[in-house]
Amino acid sequence: MSFDRSIKIAPSILSADFANFGAEIRAIEDQGADWVHVDVMDGHFVPNLTFGPLAVKAFRPHVKTVMDVHLMIAPVDPYIDAYADAGADVLTAHVEAGPHIHRTLQAIRGAGMKAGVALNPGTPAEAVAHLLDLTDLICVMTVNPGFGGQKFIDMTAKVRALRGMIGDRPVHIEIDGGVDPNTAPLVAQAGADVLVAGSAVFKGGSVDNPAVYGANMQAIRKSISGAS
Ligand code: DX5
Ligand code: ZN
Repeated sequence: MSFDRSIKIAPSILSADFANFGAEIRAIEDQGADWVHVDVMDGHFVPNLTFGPLAVKAFRPHVKTVMDVHLMIAPVDPYIDAYADAGADVLTAHVEAGPHIHRTLQAIRGAGMKAGVALNPGTPAEAVAHLLDLTDLICVMTVNPGFGGQKFIDMTAKVRALRGMIGDRPVHIEIDGGVDPNTAPLVAQAGADVLVAGSAVFKGGSVDNPAVYGANMQAIRKSISGAS
């Protein structure tokens, strides 16, 4: 996984057909997804449940790009090795998930993965000020985590602040929640490079009609290039 700041679209399979993950992952990659975003929820840190490490391990052979695993769970540390074994390329933990995020990021890198840290909308950029050399990705939540299809919360000022704090460090800024052709240009201009999109990519399409996924991703890309 080499580092670059080009715009990457990371469809969230939270919006995929849960009975058909393998085919859904292949469909979005065939249609031009740059990364695949995998939302793990525990019904405790967030009020919803998705899947755990065994399911994520089953996704792995289908993912040819980057498997970007977003943990919305607490605690995180007891599960880090299981997600390494599952084949996560990037493993992201929430800064709000426990008192020892510094240790968690060290452990994620120690297990051979890229380490991400996510910030809920109510958490300031400064929460990661002392973590910048321990992290490979900062995920700025633009919804309160737990569900797909929620309304975008404008975190543009936070993204700008983070971009300034990061400087030349090889740290991605990822946006998660409510990304669509209307909101993508705002966050891209503010300095984000990884755009997670669930409903905006999957809406209207299916594995039998995957061209819709491609068109939806193209609409997001076009909205950004039109804006710069
Ligand atoms: C929300 C998840 C997101 C979600 C985004 O808790 O972390 O990845 O799937 O979905 P949309 O793009 O529909 O807001
Ligand atoms: Zn997510």
